[in-house]
Amino acid sequence: MNVAEIVLSPTGGTEKVADIIGKHWDKNPTKIDLSDAKADFGKCEISEQDMVVIAIPSFGGRAPALAIKKACAARKENELFL
Ligand SMILES: Cc1cc2nc3c(=O)[nH]c(=O)nc-3n(C[C@H](O)[C@H](O)[C@H](O)COP(=O)(O)O)c2cc1C
Repeated sequence: MNVAEIVLSPTGGTEKVADIIGKHWDKNPTKIDLSDAKADFGKCEISEQDMVVIAIPSFGGRAPALAIKKACAARKENELFL
């Protein structure tokens, strides 16, 4: 089982919270930064056995659609465990 943090955090607050949770589960969790425009999130391999923190801020009561789309890509077979 691996631990991963999937994070969007333009000013760092959301990331701090995700780090507290992720590091509670594992000393060195894998971090996936949704703001990395060059990243291929489809190459991130997350399985059903892994523990994942998905941390995205809310703007106007909604998570940014692009962040949700990238988070969905960041797992095997492009499905999200929700
Ligand atoms: C235009 C705008 C709208 C926001 N709307 C919400 C909201 O509906 N609910 C909420 O809890 N926070 C809202 N926030 C606060 C952001 O979610 C907050 O700034 C967020 O923690 C930033 O995260 P970061 O420090 O990881 O970048 C809003 C912020 C901005 C600038």
